[in-house]
Amino acid sequence: MNKWLLLTVISLLSLLLAACGGAASGEKSSEDYTAENPLIIKFSHVTAIDSVKGQAADHFAQLVDEKTEGKVKVEVYPSSQLYGDNDELDALASGNVHMIAPSATKMVKIDRRWQFTDMPYLFEDEEHVQEFFESEAAHDLLNSDQLSANDIKGLTFWPNGFKHMSNNKRPLVTVEDFKGLKFRAQAGQVLEAQFESLGAGSATIAFGETYAALQQGTVDGAENPYNNFDTMKFYEVQPYLSSTQHGRVDYVIFVNKTFWESIPEDLLAPVEEALAESTTYATELAEEENEKSLENIKTSGVVEFYEMTQEERDALKEALQPVYDEFTEAITPELIESIQSLK
Ligand code: LMR
Repeated sequence: MNKWLLLTVISLLSLLLAACGGAASGEKSSEDYTAENPLIIKFSHVTAIDSVKGQAADHFAQLVDEKTEGKVKVEVYPSSQLYGDNDELDALASGNVHMIAPSATKMVKIDRRWQFTDMPYLFEDEEHVQEFFESEAAHDLLNSDQLSANDIKGLTFWPNGFKHMSNNKRPLVTVEDFKGLKFRAQAGQVLEAQFESLGAGSATIAFGETYAALQQGTVDGAENPYNNFDTMKFYEVQPYLSSTQHGRVDYVIFVNKTFWESIPEDLLAPVEEALAESTTYATELAEEENEKSLENIKTSGVVEFYEMTQEERDALKEALQPVYDEFTEAITPELIESIQSLK
């Protein structure tokens, strides 16, 4: 091949590579994905497939499929099938999974402020929770340095509901009734302090192992939104449930930052649209499903459900005041005051 022809071929190749944008550097473009060879988003979570989070995750997967014409496929792994409480965060940070939706409190080892969700009676009602989700304080938490230092990006919040206490020994009506019981806790020292303030003990147990721990008597009680209590069948091992409404279980959608930022722009846009629509879907679903679960629990015939009076909740709130004394600093007064100011 003569020199001029060789130069022409090399120039054409360089132009071709430049036209493919970053293709030369191994970055993929949306042309690289098809319904037969889709971009995969692995989404792992720990609740039952028919739970609020389970249904919202599946709805997200379906919307992504529709909006990208199959070019992006969300593989949902419910019920701790792929990763459970003890390893999903590490799996996300290392990119072994691309998306998780843990309850906020499980982010405590990255940023202790996420335990805000456990501060007793901090939130008044669902509307207050929504106000917070849309607040600057919530946005700051999603975009913290602590998250990006772990290659994690916070995207949005999905609600579940208020937590209520259950156990296998006796009805929980007054503060005295908690004394000596041992409760399962999700994570973090705020929940440990919460139970200590009531004269009870606690043990941090992965959500996927909670039913067995309650069945075997490792712990006497737990705290759950009605929907988790119902869809995990905790009613089979927790004969006493009281509407304490003392804390929250709400989810944060986190992704692996490097993975998320590698998604080609024209595919990321429909995925983000699907997430926004799924967040609205999850918000409507949470209230409906928790109401439905409460009815299931009341009519189960196996649970003695006690509707606490406002006075009884006020007594519980007073007994839990030491949690604020001990943890306002860690959660930061700014975050707590910003949430309280939304009431
Ligand atoms: C729990 O561990 O009790 C909850 O955070 C589980 C969940 O994801 O709702």
